[in-house]
Amino acid sequence: MNKFEAGFLFQILLKMRSVVTMNIKIKETVFESFPNLESARLVFKEFENSDSQAMFELRSNPDVMRHMDSHPYQTIQDASLSIEQNRIAFEEKTGLNWAIFEKETQQFIGYFCFWKLFRHHCRAEIGYALHPNYWGKGYMDETIKTMLSFAFEQFGLHSIAANVNPNNKNSIRLLEKNNFVQEAYFKEDYFFDGQYIDSLIFSLLEPKG
Ligand SMILES: CC(C)(COP(=O)(O)OP(=O)(O)OC[C@H]1O[C@@H](n2cnc3c(N)ncnc32)[C@H](O)[C@@H]1OP(=O)(O)O)[C@@H](O)C(=O)NCCC(=O)NCCS
Repeated sequence: MNKFEAGFLFQILLKMRSVVTMNIKIKETVFESFPNLESARLVFKEFENSDSQAMFELRSNPDVMRHMDSHPYQTIQDASLSIEQNRIAFEEKTGLNWAIFEKETQQFIGYFCFWKLFRHHCRAEIGYALHPNYWGKGYMDETIKTMLSFAFEQFGLHSIAANVNPNNKNSIRLLEKNNFVQEAYFKEDYFFDGQYIDSLIFSLLEPKG
């Protein structure tokens, strides 16, 4: 075997090894058509441009943004842009973002997403928010329960992470009620608005068996 053939064979062996160790647990079929979901009181749908105004009102609300450690939306265009980014994430199979509607009123009340998808590790980070008019009704609890079933039974995730500001009591309560476990406390790992902020990392593993 000459040098050229040996190099070629080596490349093939490397490729075969990566195929053998590839984790194919994630169900790519989830990205074929948007997975609309529902629970007792809510429906979860793909974002549309017509949700821009409601999304702007949500992400510019000071109570919503208090512990989000990102800048509030300034204009409705910021909301339109994020809706476009949601659409691209779905198309590129890198994230899933649902607009949440109250069944009774058909009002947009918030969102839930799986983003930062680590495909090979079957892990994703979640993000969520509700308009304050809808806090204290168990709506995000109902949402997260629906999304956890989807994540483990249909999407093929093995673990789910949440990165929370330690002062975000509502979010921490929601995660702990849903069996998320605190796995890390990073000190001053995030620079926002002129200061270094701590981060709490919660995680949930797929149920055994
Ligand atoms: C995080 C957030 C979604 C939590 O909203 P929430 O309404 O407090 O959470 P839930 O939907 O789980 O509702 C729980 C409350 O509803 C009450 N409740 C009423 N009816 C209920 C029902 N049928 N089922 C469950 N809980 C119910 C619970 O008692 C609880 O109230 P309590 O905290 O006073 O005990 C909300 O605070 C938010 O949008 N924050 C801003 C954005 C944000 O910080 N996102 C997270 C970034 S990490």
